[in-house]
Amino acid sequence: MAYTVPKLTDYSAAALERASAELLAALEQDVRKLLFDDSKRTLSHDAEWKLRWEEWKNFRDKWIARKSGVLTQINDVWLKGAPKEGKRAAGQLVNELRKKVEEEVARSEGTLANWEADDQRASPGQSFASMDDALRALQSVDISLPGIRRPIGAEHPVIKTRNEIVGVFERLGYSVAEGPVVETDYYNFEALNFPPNHPARDTQDTLFIAGQQSKPQRERLLLRTHTSPVQIRTMEKMRPPIRIVIPGTVHRNDPPDASHSPMFHQIEGLAVDTNITFGDLKGTLDHAMKALFGSSVRTHFRPSFFPFTEPSAELYVTCFICGGSGKRGSDPCRPCKQTGWIEVLGCGMVDPNVFEFVKDNGYDPKNVSGFAFGMGVDRLALLKYGVDDIQLFFQGDVRFLQQFG
Ligand code: DAH
Repeated sequence: MAYTVPKLTDYSAAALERASAELLAALEQDVRKLLFDDSKRTLSHDAEWKLRWEEWKNFRDKWIARKSGVLTQINDVWLKGAPKEGKRAAGQLVNELRKKVEEEVARSEGTLANWEADDQRASPGQSFASMDDALRALQSVDISLPGIRRPIGAEHPVIKTRNEIVGVFERLGYSVAEGPVVETDYYNFEALNFPPNHPARDTQDTLFIAGQQSKPQRERLLLRTHTSPVQIRTMEKMRPPIRIVIPGTVHRNDPPDASHSPMFHQIEGLAVDTNITFGDLKGTLDHAMKALFGSSVRTHFRPSFFPFTEPSAELYVTCFICGGSGKRGSDPCRPCKQTGWIEVLGCGMVDPNVFEFVKDNGYDPKNVSGFAFGMGVDRLALLKYGVDDIQLFFQGDVRFLQQFG
């Protein structure tokens, strides 16, 4: 990006240092371009040096031309525009920068002149050894330039929440499994007991890959609507007993708003063994919620429906914003809609019809039973951090993300 001299409103030492670092970084970039651009080496000696000197003159004028060079601009904008208290510091800075810029202009001129004098190429494009050496020497670091400050990254709040949840289950002995985001109709729907054309499919509308009409329905590709297909994929590969969690991104045909996004994150869980009961499901999830939200949280299961579990339930936890009272002082508590309970996931006992699809790998529903659950990570992250718009998670605005660093 082209460098333009910014207006300064803040004359603190930190702000001046920042402005100076930006200017010097732009200067360094220009010098590098001037000296290290090898693309002209295929030209004849004369053509190459004509071009190089034109570039150098442009560079010189950009930085030190009397009328509107960068030095003149910082003098006008930074120094003359400074408030009384800032004049001294701004004056010092402008002087230092002038020295540095003039040095670089003179130095680059000298370097180019030496190279030109040395350049005895017989024909265009011929490599010239001493110029290569000089380039290499110059490409080593100039330790007199200030370092470029690179901010340290931080975990995204959704990824942080995902890792915490996965961690809770890992400590219970669960392993992590993953599967493809572009999935077949068979794994996303059919093997999870959503028969073709069944109305339950309407609850999970998605994006289909185009141009597949010639394929049988079960082979058609779509963006997975949940992480549940990885239950089947894992059971095809691993014999029971299994205990797995499956983090991943999923897609739905939902227009974006404060609580919906066409792409979001889920974590799926699956435990299959002999004699797994609904009591195991309750105990496991109660423990997980306490580990995530604090030991005073209580859990509550309500009957629900999913094609791939029977019975099915929704899990609620006591609202960790209002502590279950439904009120914040005299105001109604918004996250739990004044009920004192927040829905966090869907779960249930694996439907025997699902086991039928993987029966041959040891999952005969006569011998094994299991539970499964699936939760939305983004929603939990919203609740956990008190964020009121899911879109903030996906806009990549550094001012938002920095708050989690
Ligand atoms: N796949 C369900 C959804 O996306 C969530 C779910 C519910 C997953 C119940 C499960 C389960 O494994 O048992 O809405």
